[in-house]
Amino acid sequence: MRMNRVESALVDSPPRRLLQRVEAARLARMGGRTPGARVVELGCGPGYGTKLILDVFGAARVDAVDLDPAMIHKAAHRLTRYRGRVNLAEGSATDLTAAFSAFGGGSDAGYGAVFDFAVIHHIPRWREALTEVARVLQPGGRFFFDEVTATALARPSYKNLFDHPTDDRFTAGEFLAELPRHGLHIADRWRTYIGGDYLLGVATRLSSGPGHDDA
Ligand SMILES: C[S@@+](CC[C@H](N)C(=O)[O-])C[C@H]1O[C@@H](n2cnc3c(N)ncnc32)[C@H](O)[C@@H]1O
Repeated sequence: MRMNRVESALVDSPPRRLLQRVEAARLARMGGRTPGARVVELGCGPGYGTKLILDVFGAARVDAVDLDPAMIHKAAHRLTRYRGRVNLAEGSATDLTAAFSAFGGGSDAGYGAVFDFAVIHHIPRWREALTEVARVLQPGGRFFFDEVTATALARPSYKNLFDHPTDDRFTAGEFLAELPRHGLHIADRWRTYIGGDYLLGVATRLSSGPGHDDA
């Protein structure tokens, strides 16, 4: 679901950009960089994460999706100098083929990495986003995520300031337990918790598909 006005302003602010630089550095230390890779970014918002994926992770190309046309507009403005390396699409992370249809992206096993900077907790049918992550990743491809848990969303600060789906929220444990159901393996050293509220991690797409952990 789309962000409310308060959150829309916050995601395009200097504190969010500072925090996102810290998150990106931490994810890169955990899961490595992605030099030369073609990658997907879920919920790119105003495009600062897209810039970090190109500059910090070294991706060759980012296909980025966001539900909110205002965010796509901001991202297009921010990413002008990366033209040719970024495709921005309005649509849902739960159907990347439809979102990327204008340029033929979103194909099965078509990407070396997928990035989720604080997006999946905004998606009511969040498991469908994980199905898409696994579908578009090549075997061995990496899923980098930074997520906000049900514990954080229940705090007065989140409840009073922001709008989020109210049903089927996930705890850190529920999110981690869902990954192998989609053929995504996460090693213990590739995950980190910040209180019970935030979860950062890097999962790898298994070659054997959902339900098997062949890592
Ligand atoms: C908290 S913001 C994060 C933005 C950016 N990734 C960041 O870290 O600053 C969540 C973003 O996810 C987008 N979003 C929500 N539901 C979505 C969906 N189903 N598909 C794609 N984007 C979605 C929102 O429009 C918003 O831009």
